Amino acid sequence: GGLRVPEQRYRIRFLPEGVSVEVDANTSLLNAARNVGIDIMSVCGGEGTCGKCLVRVLAGRVRQSDRVAILNPALRAEGYTLACQTFPLENLTVEVPVESRLDSTDVVIRHTEVEVPEYEVGLETYQHSPLACRMQLTLRPPTLTENASDLTRLLAGLRRVTNDARTSHVTNTKGCIFGGTERPIGIALSALRELPNALRDGDWKVTVTLVNCCDRWEVTRVTSGHDAQPAYGAAIDVGTTTITVYLVNMHTGETVQRLATYNEQFVYGEDVITRIVYATRNEDGLEHLRRAALRTINQLLDHAINAMKISRDDIACAVVAGNTVMTHLLLGIEPKYIRLEPYIPAAVTYPPIKAREVGIGIHQEGHVFTFPCVASYVGGDIVAGALVSGMGLRSEVGLFVDIGTNGEMVLGNKDYLVTCACSAGPAFEGSGITCGMRSVRGAIESVEVNSSDLQILVKTIGN
Ligand code: FES
Repeated sequence: GGLRVPEQRYRIRFLPEGVSVEVDANTSLLNAARNVGIDIMSVCGGEGTCGKCLVRVLAGRVRQSDRVAILNPALRAEGYTLACQTFPLENLTVEVPVESRLDSTDVVIRHTEVEVPEYEVGLETYQHSPLACRMQLTLRPPTLTENASDLTRLLAGLRRVTNDARTSHVTNTKGCIFGGTERPIGIALSALRELPNALRDGDWKVTVTLVNCCDRWEVTRVTSGHDAQPAYGAAIDVGTTTITVYLVNMHTGETVQRLATYNEQFVYGEDVITRIVYATRNEDGLEHLRRAALRTINQLLDHAINAMKISRDDIACAVVAGNTVMTHLLLGIEPKYIRLEPYIPAAVTYPPIKAREVGIGIHQEGHVFTFPCVASYVGGDIVAGALVSGMGLRSEVGLFVDIGTNGEMVLGNKDYLVTCACSAGPAFEGSGITCGMRSVRGAIESVEVNSSDLQILVKTIGN
C-alpha cells in the first residue's frame, strides 16, 4: 500500500553499469532493472519472501513495502532493500551487487554444455508413422483436352501415389512415406498460392510437404523442382528449468539433433507457482513469460537448423510437451486459476495450431501439436514419457518417475495408470536454503583428497 503517484516518472540509474531507465512511481526496482536488461534473482517471483533480490539504494528516497522487514536491520541501515518491494519517490542511484545477479551463464548456457539424454526405450513399441513427409512429384502438364486445375492435378497425383504410380498423373514419388491414403487431403492457402508458379517453374516437377493433422493430410508447402531434403519434425520438451529440442528426420525416424538450454523464463521466478504469480500480477506478465520460452525454443531451433544446414521451412511440424503451467504459458493462456483452489486449468487438451500462431521458428504453415495434460499438476511431459515407455501396453506393473522442478510419477500397466505430482523444485533450486547454492557457476562440483599429502582439491563449476 502507500503513496501512488502514477503520473510522476523518475530516473533510476543502476550501478556499476551506469545505465538509466525512466519509470513511474509504481514500478519496482526489480522491474526497472529488467527493463534495462539487468537480471536480478527473484526466486519467489517478486513476492518479497525469498530475500534474494537485494539491491542498495545509494541516492534518492524510496517507498518500501512492509516485507522489507525480513531483511537484517544492519543491512537496511546500509541502504540495502528488496528490489521487488521498493519503488521510487524521486530519481535514484541503485547498486546491484554481484550476489543478487543472475549470471547470464546460469540462465542460458551453450547447448553443448547440457547433457541431453537419449530416450530410446519403448520406441520400438510403435510403428514409424510420421506426422509429416515430403514428396517429389512429376505431374503431367495440362492440355486443351485434359484441363483440370492445378490443385485437382496435384491432389489426384497425391492420392494415387501409393495406388498405382504408373497410371496416374504421378510418375515419380521418391522419398515418400505417405501412409493412410484413405485420408482426405487438403491444402493450406499459403501452399495454394505457391502452387501455380511452382508447377510451371519446375516444368511440372514439384516437391510437396504434407502434415498429418486430425485424420487428414494437409499440403503445407509446394516448391518447384525436386528437393532431396527430407521433411523434419521438432520435438520440444518445455521444462520449467530446461528446454530441450530434438530434430527428427521424419522419413527415417532418426533423431539428428539434440539441444538443450535453460528456459529463459527463469528470470521471472524459478518454479511454476512464482511464474503464475508473475503472469498474474504484472502488466503483460503472461506475454513476457510466453516470449521468454519462445526465445529459448527458437534459439535452440536455430542451432539445430544451422548444424544441419537446412532452412526453418524444412521443419514441417513440431510436437510440444510440457507441464500444465508451461503449456499454458507457451500458448499464452491465462494460468491464474491453476494456482487457486480448486486448481482448474483452462484446458488439458489443446487444439493443433499453426506455427505462425505462436511464433515457433519452423515452417510457419507447419502444425504444432501439444501433448495433452492430465490435470493442473500432471502435464503433457509425463503423458509423453508414459506413452514412450510403453507401460500402458504391458501386463507388468511399471513405475515412471520424472524428477524435475515439478516432480511426477505414474504407476500401472495396460489395465490402469495412476499418477501424482509434487513440487520437487526446492531440492534442485535451493529456494528454501540458507546455506549452499544451486549447481550453477561457483558451486562445488567435486572434492578430492590426495592420499599421499592429504591436500584437498576442490573444483567448482566454471572453474
Ligand atoms: S524477495 Fe524480492 S524476488 Fe524474492
